[in-house]
Amino acid sequence: MKTHAVRIHAHGGPEVLTHEQVSLAAPATGEALVRNTAIGVNYADIYEREGDHGGPHTAKPMPVTMGHMAVGVVEALGPGTDGPAVGTRVGYIGPNSYAGHTVMPAARLFPLPDALSDDVAGGYLLRGLTAEYLVRRLFPLGPGKTALVHAAAGGMGLLLGQWGRKLGARMIGTVGSPAKAEIAKGFGYDALIDYNAEDFAPRVMELTEGRGADVIYDGVGKSTFRPSLDCIRPRAMVISYGTASGNVGEFDLQLLHSKSIIVTRPTLRSWIAEPDEAREAARATFAFLADPEIDTPIEDVLPLAEAAEAHRRLEGRSTTAPIVLKP
Ligand SMILES: NC(=O)c1ccc[n+]([C@@H]2O[C@H](COP(=O)([O-])OP(=O)(O)OC[C@H]3O[C@@H](n4cnc5c(N)ncnc54)[C@H](OP(=O)(O)O)[C@@H]3O)[C@@H](O)[C@H]2O)c1
Repeated sequence: MKTHAVRIHAHGGPEVLTHEQVSLAAPATGEALVRNTAIGVNYADIYEREGDHGGPHTAKPMPVTMGHMAVGVVEALGPGTDGPAVGTRVGYIGPNSYAGHTVMPAARLFPLPDALSDDVAGGYLLRGLTAEYLVRRLFPLGPGKTALVHAAAGGMGLLLGQWGRKLGARMIGTVGSPAKAEIAKGFGYDALIDYNAEDFAPRVMELTEGRGADVIYDGVGKSTFRPSLDCIRPRAMVISYGTASGNVGEFDLQLLHSKSIIVTRPTLRSWIAEPDEAREAARATFAFLADPEIDTPIEDVLPLAEAAEAHRRLEGRSTTAPIVLKP
């Protein structure tokens, strides 16, 4: 069949994104054809477009159909395939999602609850599953714990603040402007620091009476990782889960020695690799996102053909909520 997709033929800036007609093979046994209805724009898409991030974002052969997740409706199943029935609303984490249709392994589709709209699921499925493993499994937050979250007014930051607050933790956030501090205030944060106006590490030490944070969720990377080591409590964990400002690069392991600091660089795919854990992660994520106390704003909904504009806004630091693309 024919569908339309946003692809790249070379790595580069947002201008390399092209909207094209493409051919798609029918689903084979074990696969499902999904008609995408809301496609999330995530930082992983920017790493894929730029092509120099390593780890799970190593370059693929060209041309590449962009994207890492979408929600949609199952339109067909491969021969003899068990899976969500034709017509079921589903979400998925998987490649080639910047398209009218995508073929996915049927076992990797998450049926969506009615309480979640396509746009909210499109904007928050990947971020929600990420927040789930960060606050429930990698470092379980709860009463008595203080977390520092970098880029608190971003898509991930809004979720981490609210989920941490719900679990009873004290949440401190960093942001790039006073206006972003105002926004993040409504999303679970007890204190906010404008890291463009002051050094955040001494301020965190002050806010924690010299103790330091129990965990740091760092999605910013290059500009925040090193000072984060100065405001973490001994034996605590710095989670470098993203690199919006650039890769952290090499660092001296000895920097961890004096406080026995634990550093990890996780990726969502390892935390939902097993079908059972993926199902449980989705259950917890959907329950959280559908909770009436949780706010899930959407920055904008744009046509798929305007993916480049969505990328410019996300990497230009002008967004304070997810952007969703419509095929
Ligand atoms: N490892 C995983 O499993 C996983 C999964 C999902 C997402 N992530 C990571 O989570 C992070 C947040 O993702 P998101 O999509 O929700 O993005 P986002 O937080 O909405 O946007 C990134 C934010 O980073 C801050 N930032 C600081 N320096 C920057 C720079 N030089 N360039 C651009 N932004 C800069 C900006 O906020 P300020 O203006 O306030 O500084 C910006 O708004 C990303 O690093 C992403 O890779 C990781």
